[in-house]
Amino acid sequence: MDPFAPLPHIDAALRDAIDRAPLPVNLREAAAYAALGPGKRLRPILAWHVCEAFGTPGEASVPAGIASEFIHAFSLVHDDLPALDNDDLRRGRPTTHKQFGEAMGILTGDLLLTLAFDVITSQVSDRATAGLLCAELAQGTRDMISGQVLDTLGGFDAASPPSDRVRHVHTLKTGALIRAACRMGAILSGDPARATTITPYADSIGLMFQIVDDLIDVEQSAEHTGKATGKDAAAGKLTYPEVFGIERSRQIATDLGKYATEHLQQVGTNTAPLIQLAEIMAKRTK
Ligand code: IPE
Ligand code: IPE
Ligand code: MG
Ligand code: MG
Ligand code: MG
Repeated sequence: MDPFAPLPHIDAALRDAIDRAPLPVNLREAAAYAALGPGKRLRPILAWHVCEAFGTPGEASVPAGIASEFIHAFSLVHDDLPALDNDDLRRGRPTTHKQFGEAMGILTGDLLLTLAFDVITSQVSDRATAGLLCAELAQGTRDMISGQVLDTLGGFDAASPPSDRVRHVHTLKTGALIRAACRMGAILSGDPARATTITPYADSIGLMFQIVDDLIDVEQSAEHTGKATGKDAAAGKLTYPEVFGIERSRQIATDLGKYATEHLQQVGTNTAPLIQLAEIMAKRTK
């Protein structure tokens, strides 16, 4: 089974949410550009398969899945801005601020952040469930922003060694939103207590995802990945290859993938797509 089979469903829901929002045409165009470009949609895919692993059809996860994707798209738009990573290329195309100007880039990020919570509150009719989902997503977003600050501006506990710092940054800037996506999928499977059960898997693959992103920056080309590479070292970023070297980073990523799938034994029986996703995420080159 292809774990990315729900993609058309997810993209249609993203498109629909952008189309339904009352927006100026130029903002709608920029939001669609940022959210619907050729990305992997990994976070909604994870939410979908977590929901299914607990025995509930993946469709139930879609409002939360697309909300996490809107936060992700917001994080990328702002990550690429001149004041942060100053990137011109994203998903093989000009970054949103390059395409539409810096003011529109900033405001498109603001919109996507807001749209995420708008989608949950308008599409999840059970108020208690909507509240739980908003809390999960707010915490994931808060932590992502904290991670981006540490990554860009520092602010670490002075006593912490580089190995702790890099794990902390990656857990926050990338892991937190992956954790939220997985936990929201568990909540929408019908029992909020399941969020705890999926957390070890979510945290392991979340950290692994950013370690592999660091390796991609070192090992791949911009032509292959659709975004600038070789930039982290030049920008003095704290990365796994920088702290641990390439081989050890690869080993840590592999170990996290194994740890994640071992923890799926406590989840339901329908965990094959989550195992496949962990393997794909560990081996990906873009
Ligand atoms: C890139 O995320 C930024 C990180 C958090 C590492 P993805 O690799 O999921 O980006 P897209 O959505 O597929 O473009
Ligand atoms: C991104 O980390 C983390 C975000 C929260 C967007 P990077 O800065 O390494 O992501 P890329 O390499 O630009 O996609
Ligand atoms: Mg960055
Ligand atoms: Mg970046
Ligand atoms: Mg990167």
